[in-house]
Amino acid sequence: MIIKAVKFRKDGFYTQPFAFGGEEDGQYDQNIRYRGTLQNYLIDTGDEVILVDTGLPAGTPEEVPDEKSLGFTGKDICSYMDAFKALGYKPEQVTKILLTHRHSDHSGELKSFPNAKIYVNEEELDAAELKGISNIVPVKFTDGAYYNFPECQKIQDGIHYIKAKGHTKGNSIIIVELDGLFYMIHGDITYVDEALYQDKLSVVYDDRAAARVTQNRIREFIKNHPTVYLSTHSPQGYENLEAKRVMDLDNPVPTVFAAVDFSAKKATGKYVCSVCGYIYDPEQHDGVAFEDLPADWRCPRCRQPKEKFNRA
Ligand SMILES: [Fe+2]
Repeated sequence: MIIKAVKFRKDGFYTQPFAFGGEEDGQYDQNIRYRGTLQNYLIDTGDEVILVDTGLPAGTPEEVPDEKSLGFTGKDICSYMDAFKALGYKPEQVTKILLTHRHSDHSGELKSFPNAKIYVNEEELDAAELKGISNIVPVKFTDGAYYNFPECQKIQDGIHYIKAKGHTKGNSIIIVELDGLFYMIHGDITYVDEALYQDKLSVVYDDRAAARVTQNRIREFIKNHPTVYLSTHSPQGYENLEAKRVMDLDNPVPTVFAAVDFSAKKATGKYVCSVCGYIYDPEQHDGVAFEDLPADWRCPRCRQPKEKFNRA
């Protein structure tokens, strides 16, 4: 069995208020920017090709960050599907997809794998991002506890799908046991590893109390088991994977801050939600410019406020 990162965006960033501010808003420094990337993961068991999440939909425009941007998902390396194919696989080979959560940077290409059963927490099934997707297997977590997590579904020996609510209401994580280590593919429990070391919640959650319970369980698990923490939004995810680096919560890996390029690209008038990827196109809204939307306007898909949007 081998785990690979499917890398499709680089050179992004997440500011400290975005990555840390979920419980204590207002005390963090917007000028502290942690590195950001986008990658999902692939598990090749030898018998099967299993994906954890499936990237952004093809054609999602890059954002244009500025000094006020709270987060920036980065520049395209290539599309998710090209990143997947570059690993040497064909879409037809994928037999299972384990979805951590509905957000479009995780669910974007679910439709592109014709032979895959798509495992989704049953509480996530009403998500707009999943409309029209067939082959979904609603997960009911009937296999009891997985260590200190109360509810899990065993996918096969050594691969468990675990209820981890909070970031979204049907959020889940995947733990792969391999050569004595526990590889935790956690979706967006944190955006940057520093948030887990310092035990901060990000500002993105459907249910903050549940997100706190989940993060406590994850830290407890990591204290008690040799865990490699595989993030989606931070290069630390694939760096930890490549180094088989066991997370030690008391000894953080030194932070490398983002080098940010704010050189302006020509703006299109479109704006992109840095959380869920929703695109606001004035042409689809009677020509109303994003800047002219009321201050309390929210992302129609994920309910985030205007300041989470970046120009495209
Ligand atoms: Fe997310």
